[in-house]
Amino acid sequence: MKTNQSIIKKAKKYLDKNYCIGVPTETVYGLAGNAYSNSAVKKIFRLKNRPKNNPLIVHYLDINSLKEDCLINSEFIKLYKKFSPGPITYILRLKKNSKISKTITNKKNCLAVRFPKHKILRDLLKQLNYPLAAPSANITTKVSAVQAADVKEEFGNKIKYILDGGKCSIGIESTIISLVNKPTILRLGGLDISKIQKTLGFKINLNINSKKNIAPGQSYLHYSPGIPLKMNVIKPKNEDAFILIRKRKTKLNNYYYLSTKGNLDEAAKNLYSCLRKIKNKGYKSIAVEKIPNRGLGKTINDRLNRASKF
Ligand code: TXA
Ligand code: MG
Repeated sequence: MKTNQSIIKKAKKYLDKNYCIGVPTETVYGLAGNAYSNSAVKKIFRLKNRPKNNPLIVHYLDINSLKEDCLINSEFIKLYKKFSPGPITYILRLKKNSKISKTITNKKNCLAVRFPKHKILRDLLKQLNYPLAAPSANITTKVSAVQAADVKEEFGNKIKYILDGGKCSIGIESTIISLVNKPTILRLGGLDISKIQKTLGFKINLNINSKKNIAPGQSYLHYSPGIPLKMNVIKPKNEDAFILIRKRKTKLNNYYYLSTKGNLDEAAKNLYSCLRKIKNKGYKSIAVEKIPNRGLGKTINDRLNRASKF
């Protein structure tokens, strides 16, 4: 078993040469590259088959390293102190002299930034003198990766290296909040928005289905296992894989459970591996029972809803 130090060294070696590698975060795995390098960033877009107008999230160790690239405001400081490092991404204004590759934002002046909590990734960031651009490590529109083997399944030998940090502890992408003008949630995610609201002390706008070009990744099919998916199903068809929120007594082997007792955090953590497993078993369709729409249940329903657009 290699020590973390030796795998981190290896990851750094590839990143320093502007290659893209898979990296673990507490939310989902990322496809990472040097955010200051045009060539590394272009590789990310190419590998993911990602439209140029869909900007990437940049991962920093802490606020000190961020200050070189972005303008910060009081709302950011409040949320940063409470929730970072963790599953929240902030949209901030870029500084004029920032070193961030223009390809990341498609030349726009706002940047999505995040401070990941995963220990191995933080140890890696400490060793780098640039932040990491890292979208989720999946081909565009497909299910995100929550362990190293999933990243391998998505990209095969097209990437040089995957830094293995085990299974993601949250298992669903970060919550995105824009702080450029009035605070606005652009994507539901691993941080319950009621906690964000409580910290800011007012109700925040939700703009998670924008047709305008704010977060293009949110406005079309996404998170799809590649087969049809139906939500709020009471009685599935025999040939469906049936996803349930909690374990039930049954002899049927097409039943899949997101959690043992209906815990929504546990369900969010298991969602993507469950979808991936069902797809790989060769099912042609998925039915999902009604998932409670509270806490991270809201995020689960958001993802299922987009996956159902297949
Ligand atoms: O948990 C996460 O956020 C994971 C891990 C790897 O950090 N990353 C992730 O990245 O989910 P990605 O690229 O799959 O999703 C980022 C979303 C996209 O929908 C994109 O449109 C939006 O963030 N986004 C990025 N930059 C933006 C910007 N400047 N303004 C508005 N939306 C932005
Ligand atoms: Mg993604």
